[in-house]
Amino acid sequence: MKTYWAVLAGSLLAWMLMGQDAGAALDREKLLKDPGVYGTFAVFKVDEDWWKLEKAARTSAVSEVKAVFQKHADHVITDTYLLRGLSERADFFVRVHATEMLNNQNFLVDVMGTSLGKHLHNTHTFNGLTKPLNYVPGFPEDVKTALKTPPDPGAKPYVIVVPVRKDAEWWAMSQDARGAMMKEHTDATVAYLKTVKRKLYHASGLDDLDFITYFETAKLDDFNNLIIGLERVKENKHNKQFGSPTLLGTIRPLDEIMEILSR
Ligand code: HEM
Repeated sequence: MKTYWAVLAGSLLAWMLMGQDAGAALDREKLLKDPGVYGTFAVFKVDEDWWKLEKAARTSAVSEVKAVFQKHADHVITDTYLLRGLSERADFFVRVHATEMLNNQNFLVDVMGTSLGKHLHNTHTFNGLTKPLNYVPGFPEDVKTALKTPPDPGAKPYVIVVPVRKDAEWWAMSQDARGAMMKEHTDATVAYLKTVKRKLYHASGLDDLDFITYFETAKLDDFNNLIIGLERVKENKHNKQFGSPTLLGTIRPLDEIMEILSR
């Protein structure tokens, strides 16, 4: 009997250690939903010399990048976006999420250390974190329900990222005064939940910004009207920075972006 328990305990210990060695797989859905998750947006432009390399050298360089993404898959989740063709400033960007900003940094340092990385100019980086809702808990029930159960906008090929900085007056206002303006913001935007998916990152102190706003949509015309609607509400007067830069791109798998760069 003693032997049985010893074997069982031994197997349990081995199983636990094995689990630790393998590293806990990240729950992508949870990291994209939870507060307290750190997000880094790293924007890159490929330099002129890259395109002068032999195709074989470029193909081998992109496989190094893919290996780095795999190596860090237990510590960060990543999403990749193509800007090339829609922006003269950059070719692609990566959105990285982790429960520690250090993991985002370690991953990006490794990407930059690859043969392709040495040809990348890191044109912008934005850092932020997700937090619990600040104003919605004080909103009327019908607005809360509309926000909680947005219809699925379906396939969303486009991404838009808008960095935002508020003025000093905004932060000096009471929570109630800001809440009233955010209610107006929500009234102007709630109709767009049908076609626009959004995510908000708080960046004060982690960047020269207060917020990184992130959107996915299939309908850029709706997004254009959404912004015009927001420009009419009082809260907009407190935006000291809106965009600069605005990133507009398409959501693409890493393999597709790497294929475009190795063509
Ligand atoms: C479908 C469209 C949108 C909806 C339904 C929406 C709704 C909301 C709601 C409910 C909040 C308050 C969150 C909280 O309680 O903490 C919020 C915050 C915010 N939204 Fe929007 N929004 C939309 C689009 C936009 C756009 C296009 C921008 C700018 C590009 C934007 C910028 C912001 C910012 C910066 C905050 C944070 C404000 C603060 O905490 O002081 N939103 N939004």
